[in-house]
Amino acid sequence: MLTHEYSYAACLQPAESKPWTVDDCFAGRDFDFTKRFLPERIAGVEPIGCLDDDDRRMLNQIRGNSYCHLFAFVEEYIVPMVIDHARADVYGDETRLWSLLRFAGEELKHQEMMRRAVDQFQAGFGVECGLIPGREQVAGAVLATSPLTALLLTSMIEWFTQLHYTEHVKDGGELDELFRDLLRFHWIDESRHARMDSLLIDEVADGLSADEREQAIDQLLELGGAVDGLLGDQVELDIDALQAATGRRFTEAERDEIRTHQRRAYRWTFLVSGLEHPNFVRIVEQLTTNGADKIAATAHALAA
Ligand SMILES: [Fe+2]
Ligand SMILES: [Fe+2]
Repeated sequence: MLTHEYSYAACLQPAESKPWTVDDCFAGRDFDFTKRFLPERIAGVEPIGCLDDDDRRMLNQIRGNSYCHLFAFVEEYIVPMVIDHARADVYGDETRLWSLLRFAGEELKHQEMMRRAVDQFQAGFGVECGLIPGREQVAGAVLATSPLTALLLTSMIEWFTQLHYTEHVKDGGELDELFRDLLRFHWIDESRHARMDSLLIDEVADGLSADEREQAIDQLLELGGAVDGLLGDQVELDIDALQAATGRRFTEAERDEIRTHQRRAYRWTFLVSGLEHPNFVRIVEQLTTNGADKIAATAHALAA
């Protein structure tokens, strides 16, 4: 159904020949809190007029911490989802089975990496930064949708993860080195995961009617709405953390200004950059008749 040249064998080979560990990524390093962690395209702190340069750097770092948390958060459901797909043909193609078991194992490793980053951040930043709770409930909500919906969400996440690194972090020499490496190591695995998502989407979509494929897009956009609500909650926690870190007391107008810019930045990072990713759009175009228009309209509304 999808046109590509991906194969489980081609995804498995680099996973086996060049595996990496969480220790490889950290290499005994700590964050440098004099630097920014995220590129401006993701952090969106520059246009906030009520903040000075130090405040903007701190908000950027708070956003770096929540970026790690949210990845550990949204990837929670991927492990059981991939294991279920592996189990579905447990006596079949061994290359497929190995590839999917590696995929699940790598997502567990990413969660360990992101949680360690959050712990190390909290120890060094000096102020407790609130992070939204409820990752198991969110995982349950994603897994309660159709298998195609959950796979489409995964595909979207895995394409935007790569875009964040290759387009915005790879050449960001001014950013903290350890933080850049977190995204680089993540990208190494996600570049293979995104291809395996397409292979799984092919397997699942093959047995579905056109209506069922359209419904999967509707469900995906509903999940997107729920994610957007969670991002809004995280923005409020970030503003509280910034207040504690700077010792400032923001007026309602200042809080509003920060909120407006940060809502837009979070939406681009976790929703729009995926919904508009050309590879993801192409998948949706091939699966459905109306899906591409729906995701484009949603991305447009979120970017406003
Ligand atoms: Fe991951
Ligand atoms: Fe992944």
